[in-house]
Amino acid sequence: TYVVTENCIKCKYMDCVEVCPVDCFYLGDETLVINPDECIDCGVCEPECPAEAIKPDTEPGMEGWIAFNAKYAAVWPNVTEKGDTPEDAKDWDGKPGKLEAVFG
Ligand code: SF4
Ligand code: F3S
Repeated sequence: TYVVTENCIKCKYMDCVEVCPVDCFYLGDETLVINPDECIDCGVCEPECPAEAIKPDTEPGMEGWIAFNAKYAAVWPNVTEKGDTPEDAKDWDGKPGKLEAVFG
């Protein structure tokens, strides 16, 4: 499966949502996540993310993000259409420490 990682936080470009063939993205106020039970591992979303925030869960160091995606996919609503990107998305793109700053 693929996972959404830190650089999505406060960027939320949402190009990923448009291309997923199984509509398995879930929407939070500050970021999106992928439902690991629904993702078919097609990889189509990975190159579409302008923030390069989507990674295969087989990459090293993904344990925390696997848990993060599973946790919030269970509680956030499904999203199937690209919404508005935050006006300050570019300011947050690439900033370190977003997970800490937003999710404590
Ligand atoms: Fe959707 Fe494919 Fe991305 Fe999984 S890898 S979230 S199925 S586009
Ligand atoms: Fe986030 Fe990238 Fe999608 S910034 S909303 S994972 S296109």
